[in-house]
Amino acid sequence: MSEAIRDLVQGVVDGSLSDDELTDWLRGVYDEGLAEPEIIALTEAMRDSGDVLEWSPDISELIVDKHSTGGVGDKVSLVLAPALAACGLRVPMISGRGLGHTGGTLDKLESIPGFRVEISTAELRGQVDRIGVAMVGQSDALVPADCRMYALRDVTGTVASIPLITSSIVSKKAAEGLSALVLDVKFGRAAFMVERERAEELARSMVDAANGMGIHTTAVLTSMEHPLGCAIGNSLEVLESVESLCGSGPEDLEELVCVQGGILLHATGLAEDAQTGAVMIHDSLQDGSAFERFRLMVEAQGGDASILDSDASLMRGLGLMDPNLNTTELSVGESGWVEGIDAMAIARVCLGLGAGRIRLGDSVDRAVGVILEAQVGDRLEEGEPWMVLYHRNEVDRGTLEGLLDSITLSDEEIRPESRIAEVFE
Ligand code: URA
Repeated sequence: MSEAIRDLVQGVVDGSLSDDELTDWLRGVYDEGLAEPEIIALTEAMRDSGDVLEWSPDISELIVDKHSTGGVGDKVSLVLAPALAACGLRVPMISGRGLGHTGGTLDKLESIPGFRVEISTAELRGQVDRIGVAMVGQSDALVPADCRMYALRDVTGTVASIPLITSSIVSKKAAEGLSALVLDVKFGRAAFMVERERAEELARSMVDAANGMGIHTTAVLTSMEHPLGCAIGNSLEVLESVESLCGSGPEDLEELVCVQGGILLHATGLAEDAQTGAVMIHDSLQDGSAFERFRLMVEAQGGDASILDSDASLMRGLGLMDPNLNTTELSVGESGWVEGIDAMAIARVCLGLGAGRIRLGDSVDRAVGVILEAQVGDRLEEGEPWMVLYHRNEVDRGTLEGLLDSITLSDEEIRPESRIAEVFE
């Protein structure tokens, strides 16, 4: 069977397999699934369809990365990758663009003037050797099989198949030559997998495949009911990431960064357990070393690091990096404790403002977005603002009215819960 899967992937890459033949095979997998050894064989063959990064023996055990299935306000990568580098790990992070309601790390980074996400493999390796972290887009040389398979899945309705998602995601991570990987698999109304059971199934499949390929892998199952942190929108999320890198970010973001970082520090032997690793990550946010790595990365990739020297709250007051934006404040009509903020409703509004893309190839307005002035568990008094929209064009009345329903207040005090539902290897 492994042999047949290798031949199939070879046919995907060299073009000897037609679209019709590939579609039949994808439909078969979509309907019937694949057994674990077949998923591993497929993932390995996809990884080997292009370049696989190799690292010198002195650092190969330190090469790590994370993957998130995506959410609203999910800026964990921007904080976690430099923090890991500050703690001694090496992170050649290959990320994607936002699509639909989920944001993408590359779009966020490109809101830093001059930042280049397209760098050669040689440059990527050199940068990771030198400063420990690089965050880049996928080159055509990496996992070419996935490009063709994903494009065909997209038009044949075969995206939502756990074996196909597993092989697509894990092959791209495996091509980075990783020693350890942490997966942030989200569930909830604004997650790729809304149902927790389905998210667990995907997490288990990815963990088994990646571990089966020799990558020490852990999944963290996290809730995506409410936006992560307070900023949604590319530039706004960079600002919040900088705040977090300087030790003053929102608690929910910091928790995910510390827990995921701690897991990787433990998996690579740099921390005796994940809790100790989480403390190391936390320290790197407090002592400026994580921020310093971020700054070095921005400089190395051509970005204007001087904007990072301005006071973040001042930049916020100035309408961030674009002073021409309009702002609209929304206030609550009654007092209460914030019980819920509908991440999906907020994401739709941000899409409407132009912060995201509906189709691949759409352009994105990196400056627009939303700042939440309150998070779950906060107390708001009648008339207090809970959200500020940063927009270029007028926001229509319907959009604003729709947003009023996206916050739920309670008369009783609400204690915010950890987003982390489960961790497993
Ligand atoms: N993201 C990927 O990279 N591949 C999938 O199949 C689904 C989400």
